[in-house]
Amino acid sequence: MKFENSTGNIIKDQEKLSFDFIPEELPNREEEMQKLFGLYRGIVSSNVSQNVLIYGPVGTGKTVTAKRFCMEFEQWSKKKDQNIDTVFVNCRKRKNNSSAMWKIVHHFDRGFPDRGFSVEEMMKIVKEKIEERNVHLFVVLDEVDPLIQKEGSDLIYLLSRFDEERLSPEGSVSMILVSQKNVFELLEESARSSFKRSNRIRFPRYTSDDLFPILKDRVEMAFHPGSIDDKKIQLISDIAGKEGDGKGDARFGIELLEKSALIGEMSGRNEIFTEDIRSAKGEIDPYFTESRLKKLNQQEKLILLASTRKLKEQAYTITGEVEELYKVLCEEYDTEKLGHTQFWKYLKSLSDEGLLGSKTTSENSGRTTKVSLSDITAEKLEKKLENLIEDG
Ligand SMILES: Nc1ncnc2c1ncn2[C@@H]1O[C@H](COP(=O)(O)OP(=O)(O)OP(=O)(O)O)[C@@H](O)[C@H]1O
Ligand SMILES: [Mg+2]
Repeated sequence: MKFENSTGNIIKDQEKLSFDFIPEELPNREEEMQKLFGLYRGIVSSNVSQNVLIYGPVGTGKTVTAKRFCMEFEQWSKKKDQNIDTVFVNCRKRKNNSSAMWKIVHHFDRGFPDRGFSVEEMMKIVKEKIEERNVHLFVVLDEVDPLIQKEGSDLIYLLSRFDEERLSPEGSVSMILVSQKNVFELLEESARSSFKRSNRIRFPRYTSDDLFPILKDRVEMAFHPGSIDDKKIQLISDIAGKEGDGKGDARFGIELLEKSALIGEMSGRNEIFTEDIRSAKGEIDPYFTESRLKKLNQQEKLILLASTRKLKEQAYTITGEVEELYKVLCEEYDTEKLGHTQFWKYLKSLSDEGLLGSKTTSENSGRTTKVSLSDITAEKLEKKLENLIEDG
C-alpha cells in the first residue's frame, strides 16, 4: 500500500474522516432535520406514528442525517418521558425481508437465531418486546431500493400496519425509508397509503458553498492546526460541489480531503499544497468511486461491465451489442438474464446517474442508441467491476 509511510504530520484523527462517523453538526442539513422533527414530534404528544421517505442523489447526507436525527430525537423524547428506540437496517446488505426483519428482532434479543423463523413470527416477537418495554420504535430502512426491487413492499406494508388491532391512530412503529431514487412509485398502493405526500423529503446536491462548512468542520476535527488554509478547502469544495466533477457528493469531498492530506504527508510535509489536491483528484474518479460502484446491483454491474468491455477498443458502442454481451456475462456469472425492457430500464438508470453516456440518433434505417464512457478508462473500470461482481 502506497500510504504505508504516512507519518501523520497532517492527519490527527483519521476516524473523523471515516464514512461511518456521525458529526454533531450537519451544516446545510438543518432544514431537513427541522422538517423531520416537525413530522415526528407528534409521537411524543399523541403517539401517532409517521412514515417518512428521504431521497436524493449520492452523498447528499441522507444516511448521516437520518442517524443524527434518530439520536437527537431519542434524547429529546427521553426528556419528555417517552422512550424511543431506533433500529437501523442497511438493505443493501439485507436484501430480503427475513434478513431485514432479523436485524430488528436482533436489536431486542442479541442471541436470536438467524434461521428458522418466518417474518410474521419475528414480527410477533418484536411486538411483544415493544409492549414489554413500552417504547416507540423507529425503523430506518437505509438504501431500501434493493429490498423493494427484490421483495416488493410487503415488509413496509407489514410494518406500517404494525398496530392493526388498535382502533385509535396510536402507533408504536415509525419508519424512515432512505433511498437515492424516489421509491414511492415502486411501492404497492397498500404500502404507499401510509406515506403522506408531505412526508417525503428530497435532499438536494450540495453546491460548493454548501460543502465548504462541511469540509471545514472535518478539517478542524481531523487535521492538525495549520495543515490547510481556507482557500484550499474552497478548492476542494469547488471540485466536489454540484457545479464541479463531484456533482455535490460530500463523500467525494471528504475522500479528496483525506487523499490530499495523505499525499502531503507522503512528501514529508505538514501542510497540504494545491498540487496535492490536484494529484488526489487525479487518483479518484468522481463518478467511479468504490462507494458508488458498490451501490449498483448485480444486474447494473453486469450491464456496465458489458459496456466497458465493448468500449475497450472503440469510443462508442450500440445498445444491441451491449445487450448481447450482457447475456453472455449473465451465463458466465450465473445470473438470471433480464428481459429486453428491463435491460433498457437499467441501462437508462446507469446513464441517468452519469455512469454511462448515451445518445440516441436517427441514422439510415432507424434509431440507434450509442453508448460511451465518460472519464475513466475502460480498462480501469473493467478491473474494478470484475472484482465487485465476484464479491456479489
Ligand atoms: N451536512 C453534512 N455535514 C457533515 N457531514 C456530512 C454532511 N452531509 C454528508 N456528510 C458526510 O458525507 C458523507 C456522505 O454522506 P451520507 O453517507 O449521509 O450520504 P448519502 O446521501 O447517504 O449517500 P448514499 O446515497 O451514497 O447512501 C458521510 O461521511 C457524511 O458524514
Ligand atoms: Mg446512504
